[in-house]
Amino acid sequence: MRIALLGGTGDIGEGLALRFARDTSHEILIGSRDPEKARDAVAEYEDELETRGAQAEIKGFGNEMAADRADVVVLSVPPYYAGDTVEAVADSLDADSILVTPAVGMQGDEDGLHYHPPDAGSVTQLVAGRAPDDVPVVGAFHNLAADALSNLDNDLDLDTLVVADDDDAKETVLSVANEIEGLRALEAGPLANAAEVESVTPLVINIAKYNEGMHDVGVKWI
Ligand SMILES: NC(=O)c1ccc[n+]([C@@H]2O[C@H](COP(=O)([O-])OP(=O)(O)OC[C@H]3O[C@@H](n4cnc5c(N)ncnc54)[C@H](OP(=O)(O)O)[C@@H]3O)[C@@H](O)[C@H]2O)c1
Repeated sequence: MRIALLGGTGDIGEGLALRFARDTSHEILIGSRDPEKARDAVAEYEDELETRGAQAEIKGFGNEMAADRADVVVLSVPPYYAGDTVEAVADSLDADSILVTPAVGMQGDEDGLHYHPPDAGSVTQLVAGRAPDDVPVVGAFHNLAADALSNLDNDLDLDTLVVADDDDAKETVLSVANEIEGLRALEAGPLANAAEVESVTPLVINIAKYNEGMHDVGVKWI
């Protein structure tokens, strides 16, 4: 399978790219608004993997080309640009694509971060509203700290919650997420449940802020 990370030059994109490339046999495509930036990121990720003896084929493209070539398209862009990015690549998506969003709407003040969903109810639902009607949307990876993923010395022992209305798309994302070593993907219901999943993210970040040594904290449901 081909997995594209749009905005894969950023923090969560890097973490997911490194983990997918190291732990799975899927082809990883890094997307960027600037193809050159995508190729620079690929060189960096390949270097990082090589120093650990991992061989992986990663490719860099503009976002549209990456989306066009992929089976699973992860929108690794800031939440306020998620909708516009979906529309920018809409012609590259079809009923066989799966659009995945890890984006969370948050606002910060001196106390910490607070959940700040858009009018759609959650960023995941906003993305579903902006995606072409026949493209299934899945919410996943919301509560993972990018640094926990991109530091490959860090052994993960974390869960990620997956929401979707389309059962086949949800099953595919559960399956590829479970291929990441130390990550357990749990089903959390339909897209209507996305706000509950997203709202865990500011909680996790606040715990990281207030507790020394817990910078990369995440959630394991036991
Ligand atoms: N960071 C985390 O720990 C974490 C954890 C869980 C979920 N998330 C979610 O993952 C998403 C990405 O987070 P991040 O921390 O990786 O973000 P980021 O590093 O700030 O940005 C990711 C990429 O988004 C692209 N981008 C920036 N401005 C854009 C714009 N105006 N339009 C389209 N693309 C733009 C850039 O790629 P190009 O310049 O190459 O196009 C950038 O490298 C967010 O929605 C966040 O809520 C993040």
